[in-house]
Order: sequence, then C-alpha cells, then structure tokens
Amino acid sequence: MSSRFILWDIPTRVFHWALVVGIALAWWSGEEGRNDVHEWTGYALIVLIVSRIFWGFFGSRHSRFTDFVRGPAAILAYLRGEGSPTPGHNPLGALSVIALLLLVLAQAVSGLFNSDDILFSGPLYYMASTELRGFMGSVHDISFNILLGLIALHVLVVAYHQLVKKDGLITAMFTGRSERKAGLAPPVPVWRALLIVALVAIALWLGLEQAPQPQPLW
Ligand code: HEM
Ligand code: HEM
Repeated sequence: MSSRFILWDIPTRVFHWALVVGIALAWWSGEEGRNDVHEWTGYALIVLIVSRIFWGFFGSRHSRFTDFVRGPAAILAYLRGEGSPTPGHNPLGALSVIALLLLVLAQAVSGLFNSDDILFSGPLYYMASTELRGFMGSVHDISFNILLGLIALHVLVVAYHQLVKKDGLITAMFTGRSERKAGLAPPVPVWRALLIVALVAIALWLGLEQAPQPQPLW
C-alpha cells in the first residue's frame, strides 16, 4: 500500500461504534419498557444517522457516497472478481451500508409516531391519523426484525473478511487503517462533523418542539 492516510476518519469510526451501542440500548430498552432510555436513545440515533448521511457528502474521501455507491454493472464485476479494487466499501458491501442506514432511519422515524397505547408515545403520535399510527407501528415492529437479520449478516461478512481473507477491516474500523487497508486522501477536519451534528440536533429539537401535545382529559 503506497499511501498511509487513514481509511476511516474519526467521525466515521465514532459514528459506527456509537451506532452499535445505540442499537443495543434501543433494543434492550424497547423490550424492557424503559421508556425514558428508549426515547433518548432513539433521538440520539436519529441525530447520528442523519449526520452520517450529511457526512456522505461533506466527509473524508472514503466516507462519501460517491466513493462507494456503484451501479449494478460494478456490483456484477465485483462478484466476478473483476473491477478496480478500492480500499473503502466494496460495491456489494455498499448496498448493505445503504440498507443499514435506511433501516435504522426508518426504525427511528417510525418510533416518533409509535405508542404502546398506555404510557409511552412518540412526540409525533398526536399529530398522526389513525391509519398513519397503525402503519408506523407496523414499520417499527417489522423493520426491527429485518434490521436484526441484516446486522447478523453484516457481522458474519466482516468476520469472514477479517479472519479468512485477513484484510484487517475490523482493525481499520477501530484504528482508522490496517496493514492492508489505507486511504487515498487526507481526512477533512473533525470540526466539520461537530458542526453537522450540532445543526442536526438543533433542527430535530426545534422540529419536535412544534409537535402538538395530547389534550388534557380533564
Ligand atoms: C448494531 C450493529 C451494527 C450496525 C447497525 C452496523 C452498521 C454499519 C454501517 C452503517 C457501516 C458503514 C460505515 C460507514 O461508512 O459509515 C458499517 C461498516 C462496518 N462495520 Fe458495522 N455495524 C454493526 C455492527 C458491527 C460489528 C459488531 C462489527 C465488528 C465485528 C462491525 C464491523 C464493521 C466494519 C469492519 C465495517 C467496514 C466495512 C468495510 O470495510 O467496508 N459492525 N457497519
Ligand atoms: C433506531 C432506533 C430505535 C430502535 C432500534 C427501536 C426499537 C424498538 C424495539 C425493539 C421495541 C420493542 C418492540 C416490541 O416490544 O414489540 C420498540 C418499541 C417502541 N418504540 Fe422504539 N426503537 C427506536 C426508536 C424509537 C423512537 C425514536 C421512539 C419514540 C420517541 C420509539 C418509540 C417506541 C414505542 C412507543 C414503543 C412501544 C411500542 C409497543 O409497545 O407497541 N422508538 N422500539
């Protein structure tokens, strides 16, 4: 490997491992009915995912969607073992990256409209029609199961790359690079990510503040 730039910049790595912790917390708190933890983990996950999507446009080279999102021809070429090798996400892996991001987004957004019909309702529940509430409730249930399946597949595939193909990609997701994985360009400054996270968090807060609250019963 000629260059020794990092492959995954700090924001991308922090995003990844915060996502893992966040999903675990959301799962646990959802199942255990720890509503306060569930609500705040959910908001944190929305901020994380939306910031990662912006990072796909303003982040370092290999975190940008233009670096890894490819059409069917490139995916087929990759499957045939042809095509130009890239240190970042390969064309097939990119599909699972996009699917994971969209599923977590769908999960968190549907939660905003969800309710357990007793004590815990998302902040947008009261502005939704009965149909929309029902739909979002089903999305919250179904997409979580799909997400769990995809996460299992994701972990199996990266373990195979790390242990069998020995390309050190799990190492790179911790340290930024590995013996066989390095970036082709210097990273962009971290303050850019901090600014994105702050703006996204403020926008979410301002947006949810506008949501109508339940009418008192007496
Ligand atoms: C809740 C569970 C998980 C979710 C939702 C998840 C999601 C993701 C996402 C969205 C990416 C793309 C990263 C980016 O470009 O921003 C990614 C990449 C990656 N993840 Fe995970 N991940 C999970 C668990 C794990 C675990 C447990 C490991 C390690 C054993 C792992 C190892 C990796 C690696 C090595 C990559 C980079 C793959 C490559 O080089 O193309 N992930 N993951
Ligand atoms: C990615 C983020 C999220 C994940 C992974 C997640 C996951 C889950 C899980 C696993 C359950 C348990 C489902 C069950 O017992 O059948 C649940 C329930 C629930 N979640 Fe989430 N959730 C997320 C975000 C949110 C958000 C942001 C809110 C609202 C602020 C929310 C509101 C709810 C409600 C109200 C329930 C109870 C539904 C019921 O009992 O029928 N969730 N969630």
